[in-house]
Amino acid sequence: MRVPDLSTDAAVLRAALAWQVELGADEAIGETPVSRFEAAARPPPPVRQAAVAAAAPQAPAELTTEALAAGCGELAALRAAMAAFEGCALKKGARNLVFSDGNPAARVMVVGEAPGRDEDRAGLPFVGRSGQLLDRMLAAIGLSRRAEAPEAAVYVTNVLPWRPPQNRDPAADEVAMMLPFLHRHIALVAPDLLVAVGNSAARTLLGTTTGITRLRGHWAEWRGVPVMPMFHPAALLRNPELKRAAWADLLAVRKRLDGA
Ligand code: URA
Repeated sequence: MRVPDLSTDAAVLRAALAWQVELGADEAIGETPVSRFEAAARPPPPVRQAAVAAAAPQAPAELTTEALAAGCGELAALRAAMAAFEGCALKKGARNLVFSDGNPAARVMVVGEAPGRDEDRAGLPFVGRSGQLLDRMLAAIGLSRRAEAPEAAVYVTNVLPWRPPQNRDPAADEVAMMLPFLHRHIALVAPDLLVAVGNSAARTLLGTTTGITRLRGHWAEWRGVPVMPMFHPAALLRNPELKRAAWADLLAVRKRLDGA
């Protein structure tokens, strides 16, 4: 007959455990006695700040958007960092973060101003009337946010990811606060060229106060990437006579993509 080793035999240990549970034991105890009264009286050990930061589900408020953006090595991380960012008051009045739409491998990246009501609801940029016009304009030069091939694709985002109340213009401090996120966004997508639609996008990307009427149609640069400033599709809906200029600017984009 096998003689069980009472200290290691699994069946014996299981039986001993079952017996303890039967007796009402509900936690494991160590070999050395512990005074719970003394432990309760001791102050909790200090927690290292780095550990707190690593465990925190939200970005610590003291980190600048510059530092947060710099830490994002891919688009998913950038999106998560922006979603967790609590420093911009616009977030409180918005339903959704509007991060982007389209193909991140696209050669062309379009930057608009900020979400409107429809975009806020959908969580996607340019889905309302001006977005539909934007899609038609891009389709006219063979580009689509649904295209898989980078040559035919577009990636779309905005200067601000949250809707300003009553669709007011973005405030300078809001733009300045969120700008590092936009810059990181562009750097991660690394498009061959940028299209800035409307005053806010063009001024923000080009760091100028010059208006879109003077900027449009002239190639500029953002950190070495060619930028074509254009009228915003919402302006084209209000003033159809601007469509002729918009068409000329789209053709310039097409030409540049074709290497002409
Ligand atoms: N206008 C913009 O600039 N962006 C949008 O996403 C929608 C309207």
